[in-house]
Amino acid sequence: MRPAADRGRVWQELEQLATFSDATPPAVTRIVFTEHDRRAREFFRSRCEAAGLAVRADAVGNTFARWQGTSPDLPAVATGSHIDAIPNAGRFDGTVGVFGGLEAVRALQAAGVRPRRSIDVIMFTSEEPTRFGLGCLGSRLLAGSIDATVGQTLRGAEGLTLDEARQAAGFSGSLDNVRLGAGAYAAFVELHIEQGPLLERAGDDIGIVTAIAAPASVRVFIEGQGGHAGAVLMPDRHDAFLAASEIALALEDAVRTLGSIDTVGTVGVCDVFPGAINSIPSRVRIEIDLRDVDEERRNRVWRHAEQAGALVAARRGVTVRSVIINMDPPATCAAAIVHAVSAACAARALQHQRMISRAYHDSLFMARVAPTGMIFIPCRDGVSHRPDEYADPDAIARGVEVLADTLATLAGEAS
Ligand code: HGY
Ligand code: MN
Ligand code: MN
Repeated sequence: MRPAADRGRVWQELEQLATFSDATPPAVTRIVFTEHDRRAREFFRSRCEAAGLAVRADAVGNTFARWQGTSPDLPAVATGSHIDAIPNAGRFDGTVGVFGGLEAVRALQAAGVRPRRSIDVIMFTSEEPTRFGLGCLGSRLLAGSIDATVGQTLRGAEGLTLDEARQAAGFSGSLDNVRLGAGAYAAFVELHIEQGPLLERAGDDIGIVTAIAAPASVRVFIEGQGGHAGAVLMPDRHDAFLAASEIALALEDAVRTLGSIDTVGTVGVCDVFPGAINSIPSRVRIEIDLRDVDEERRNRVWRHAEQAGALVAARRGVTVRSVIINMDPPATCAAAIVHAVSAACAARALQHQRMISRAYHDSLFMARVAPTGMIFIPCRDGVSHRPDEYADPDAIARGVEVLADTLATLAGEAS
């Protein structure tokens, strides 16, 4: 019997999960280690335990729900994603991979599959950079891409360090213990909405991810001279905001002239001090998000934008200081997993295409410690990180079933 998703059950769980939010529906805001994050974690744990999975959490709150295989000593297979949501976001980014992963396990259980390898459904902590300024915190620690010092060096806007915030949320112990041992997983597969329009435009059911673009984040501090907006004449000004504006446009110019269609640059944060209508900005902080499937091209674009910023500083008599938050390489998905997902699509006569993920995901870091793949489902108009983000229940069910087939293949079935 082919595993079948209970589309009503997973849809209802996603609807209930969306109520754990600091935003007015249909928007969702769920920042890591807030009260709504805690409730969402509790909900996930209770649903996994109801399915007979053994649930544990590590020192940063990565949560592992294990379906024990018949050969538990073999390296397990894993799936999963995140439930944290940036401000004013949607209901499906990440959550489809967490509750869809759970639904895939339940579909396999109902179909009487007995996996040789155990299967873990992982809910990763803080995939979004909102609170601590660095995305994929939980998966970076699992992969050993960052170390325990981030517990003290990363601090949320409210002033708590990562260590203080995680301990207040009930996650104690050393972050040194988060790192996965070598060979901990035989494979990792993440189900996620595409967050782009290609699948919907092509009428395809499934996207088989072959690579994940390389993200970089940079914080730029511009210091000028403040002063009275009426009394200081234009030739005498050193306006930090106008300098920041030129730097943002220089970034765009570098992306457009040196990049390709796969190169994207965004200035999503701009903090102006003192932030008064009649006071010339003396300090500005902008945050840059720069991505490309080609790491060297991305870095070339950044170097060019950085040089342009130095010229702006000299001309406007301000200082410009850049702090690299992260500059990650891209990830390539494992051929064996791409093949297993393709076979699952073919067996179910689902239209599918191979594609690149332009968003980053926890898979970007799991790929450093295990053969990794991703399964995309379409989302309406390709919209994401917005309240009108939407994935159709049938599309979710198809993604769950392809994931279930893929996990069964990777875990091996007990004879
Ligand atoms: O920004 C991203 O690509 C992811 O959604 N955090
Ligand atoms: Mn996201
Ligand atoms: Mn996501």
